[in-house]
Amino acid sequence: MSPTTRPAADHKPIAPVDLAAERAAVGPALEEAVLRVLRSGQYILGPEVEKLERDFAALHGVAHGVGVANGTDAIAIALRSACVRPGDHVVTSPFTFFASAGAVAWIGAKPVLADVELDTALLDPAKAEAAIDARTTAILPVHLYGQMADMRAFRALADRRQLALVEDGAQSHGASRDGVSCAQLGDACAFSFYPTKNLGACGEGGMILTRSDALAARARRVREHGSPVRYTHAELGTNSRLQGIPAATLNVKLPHLAAWNERRRALAARYDAAFRGSAEVVPLARRAGAVHVYHQYTVRILGSVSRDAVVEALKAERIALAVHYPSPVHLQEAAQPWGYGPGDFPNAERLAREVVCLPVHPFLSDADVDRVAERLLAAAAGRS
Ligand SMILES: Cc1ncc(COP(=O)(O)O)c(C=O)c1O
Repeated sequence: MSPTTRPAADHKPIAPVDLAAERAAVGPALEEAVLRVLRSGQYILGPEVEKLERDFAALHGVAHGVGVANGTDAIAIALRSACVRPGDHVVTSPFTFFASAGAVAWIGAKPVLADVELDTALLDPAKAEAAIDARTTAILPVHLYGQMADMRAFRALADRRQLALVEDGAQSHGASRDGVSCAQLGDACAFSFYPTKNLGACGEGGMILTRSDALAARARRVREHGSPVRYTHAELGTNSRLQGIPAATLNVKLPHLAAWNERRRALAARYDAAFRGSAEVVPLARRAGAVHVYHQYTVRILGSVSRDAVVEALKAERIALAVHYPSPVHLQEAAQPWGYGPGDFPNAERLAREVVCLPVHPFLSDADVDRVAERLLAAAAGRS
């Protein structure tokens, strides 16, 4: 019997992430690292955090890493450190995890949204420029799904309009485009080490990367209540220090990141081949010059079967698909004060109805990917 004709119950489940396989791949080093921190008593900041800051910055070719508590704080602190103040406007994407815009509002600034490109789901530089007004002080492009936004265009725009440029790199560890890595063109790039990210901690974590000595010094201060020296507070900040145990687990995983990203690219190429010519399953575009790290492999479902029906059909086959994101930022209840409504960002709204993310983690087999592709094509064509 061929693998595709076996009843679904005979197939092993396929999930968007496999943290147990990742743990097994790094072996006993992970547990040893946790014990090392436990025994050292260096629970907050300390040598593991400093090593990670150095190595993660070096990987992206920038001078400074500042470890913080999570990716949301990394965005907020990067913006604050780039001189964004309460009342300022920050241009960002309506099609991202809510934290991108949420972090802007959390520091008292206003997220001003501009639509994304329909074929990549990335913030459109021309639309971002059109959204700039007299109160705009920063642009926050999001490197969604592991593909960088057009940073050369955003750098030129930020320079022309004298704006800060902060990247949301929560999904783009190790990505590059047009020969530059994320974090190299922005004033700062904010990363998340949430466990399911391409580089994920055993716990929460985040980091700001920057080329700027001044921005790094300010971010270090803001993550500790604006305190350059103990019990001296130069400005308001917060408590957002990266902890030793998550940092130690990241130090164990970091040497694997390049190979894991490579494996993600190989699986993505397999999906690309399977979907070539399909009218119903259309992968998002990869721009020429982009080294995509496929945090997600995302397709649009464009046939007569709805995206949600396709997700249900695959669930019945024990294949879990994820929808990132079923609602755009501007239609969330928390976004109401920003004054947007249905129809304001048609590409974001359309993508929220059409996208689905396929399992692409590095511990999938080629056969797993073939099965997902085959079942997805069948479901989207109404043949499931
Ligand atoms: C695009 C994007 N921005 C920001 C964040 C926030 O990161 P964290 O969950 O570590 O706060 C995430 C993570 O989920 C994300 O995907």
